[in-house]
Amino acid sequence: EKGGYEHFMMKEIHEQPKAILDTMNSKIKDGRIDLSDMGLSEEDIKNISQVFIVACGSAYHTGVVTQYVMEDLARIPVRVELASEFRYRRPILNKNDLVIVVSQSGETADTLAGLRLAKEQGVKTLGIVNVVGSSIAREADNVFYTLAGPEIAVATTKAYSAQLIAGYMLSIEFARVRGEITEEQYTGYITELQTIPDKIGRILEDKERIQWFAAKQANAQDIFFVGRGIDYAICLEGSLKLKEISYIHSEAYAAGELKHGTISLIEDGILVIGVLTQPELYEKTISNMVECKSRGASLMALTTVGNYSIEDTAEFTVYVPKTDEHFAASLAVVPLQLLGYYVSVARGLDVDKPRNLAKSVTVE
Ligand code: F6R
Repeated sequence: EKGGYEHFMMKEIHEQPKAILDTMNSKIKDGRIDLSDMGLSEEDIKNISQVFIVACGSAYHTGVVTQYVMEDLARIPVRVELASEFRYRRPILNKNDLVIVVSQSGETADTLAGLRLAKEQGVKTLGIVNVVGSSIAREADNVFYTLAGPEIAVATTKAYSAQLIAGYMLSIEFARVRGEITEEQYTGYITELQTIPDKIGRILEDKERIQWFAAKQANAQDIFFVGRGIDYAICLEGSLKLKEISYIHSEAYAAGELKHGTISLIEDGILVIGVLTQPELYEKTISNMVECKSRGASLMALTTVGNYSIEDTAEFTVYVPKTDEHFAASLAVVPLQLLGYYVSVARGLDVDKPRNLAKSVTVE
């Protein structure tokens, strides 16, 4: 049942190209994105005044990526909200807003409560859901199904990747309908998306290198992830993956925030992982990494093929293939999933069933 892998998590990491392809193909007709089965007309899309993305945990992290991508491509204001916070404030929703709830299981209590609150206020709702027939799938006005298949490991991987794809497709289509991108850009983005599964396959071929590095981190006490923009969103997920299955304390920081407090924690031997996939932010994040190094940190960099100058700064560098920078999270997350996995294995822990966690959080 684990398909020859030692753990479900590793099996599911390898199922990501297929999860992405299936999710993408379900919405592509004749080379174009077709959302006609989702009850969102072009008129509806043009009229959206604000998008709220409501979710928990890793699903929330995909929302953070979607916020950057959708705002940049479609120029619609997007707010990402932790469902457990959203439900207990009195969020200000207007009739032309769209509330997107993201959930693998479709049963997360806080996310479901957020969905119900939006519906009570008469706002259009869209679920990005993996489990067919789940509560969120049944109650949302419309559903974008991620076709990741059943996910068994508590730590999500392939559902996360499929949620990202759903977020990109909505962003690209909204951008086209609202006239924010040209026809050429539109088809270019779709073509680029279709290259992602193979690129993930290439990253997976190199997993032993990450295994080697992970084994050396087995006794780490604290690990920090830093990045800006989409790279910060990747850090959030990388840090959660690591801590939930390895039980090593880790934090994700927007790189520019380090000097507002956290840098006081940096001392000899602490590992700082810099994520650098956004060319216009490279230099800024590198300078934050250098500040950590001068306080004794050792540095790992996760960046794009070609950005070799980072080797002057970082002791260990992982390269992912080039893609359009909007979609970089889909590639950069994979080495971080592998890192969390291999650190957990090196520590002899129960990778698929980490302590204190449940696959589906149906109580608050
Ligand atoms: C982390 C993880 C959780 C879930 C969160 C939301 O690896 O799996 O953070 O992402 O509990 O679950 P769903 O997506 O089922 O609502």
